[in-house]
Amino acid sequence: MNNAFVEMIRSRRVVRNYTDETVSETVLWKILDTARWAPAARNRRYNRYICLNDKETIRKIQMVSPGMGAGLPNALIVVCIDWDLAAYEVMDRTYQTSYIDVGTAVENMLLAAHAQGVGAWPMTSFSPDAVRILLNIPDNLAPIMFVGLGCPANIPKSTVKKPKIRVRIEDFVQWGSFPQKADIE
Ligand SMILES: Cc1cc2nc3c(=O)[nH]c(=O)nc-3n(C[C@H](O)[C@H](O)[C@H](O)COP(=O)(O)O)c2cc1C
Repeated sequence: MNNAFVEMIRSRRVVRNYTDETVSETVLWKILDTARWAPAARNRRYNRYICLNDKETIRKIQMVSPGMGAGLPNALIVVCIDWDLAAYEVMDRTYQTSYIDVGTAVENMLLAAHAQGVGAWPMTSFSPDAVRILLNIPDNLAPIMFVGLGCPANIPKSTVKKPKIRVRIEDFVQWGSFPQKADIE
């Protein structure tokens, strides 16, 4: 196991406070590029990414995004699903692997940002309809998730402080099958 990589995963935290320093377009492209290396069901590539680094536009988006109340990122990636492309495989908007593909891509970008010292913030609490109007997003694209980005103003507390309740992985894992009902009674 590559310990440096595991440590990178363990030390990533959501960053919601940023300095005024901008994230360069070169770095934004590097982060975006990691999205295409994410695993995707049947290797489909239905995610589309809208990248914004204009503070005024991001501020407008903040006004329709309750989940962005805690800070204003310097850049924002809006991760969308292209449902026209998905329709070729007779997938509708309830098709869960499309949403999982968004998650794998977002995780890659969060880790890539962290590895470069850029703070990253995943979000789903926003009005997709309002974001569509603000960005003039065509009908085939559905905005699903945001990744806010910026230079961290401070190290989030949770990286330097142990959580009050120690969460153990053993509490979330069932090793092997669940016992038969008869064994429990
Ligand atoms: C699917 C998803 C949606 C999220 N939406 C928001 C959001 O709208 N606003 C927000 O402040 N954080 C949001 N978060 C961040 C979580 O609150 C955060 O990941 C969680 O509290 C754990 O903190 P950590 O990532 O720093 O360990 C979201 C995370 C995920 C995975």
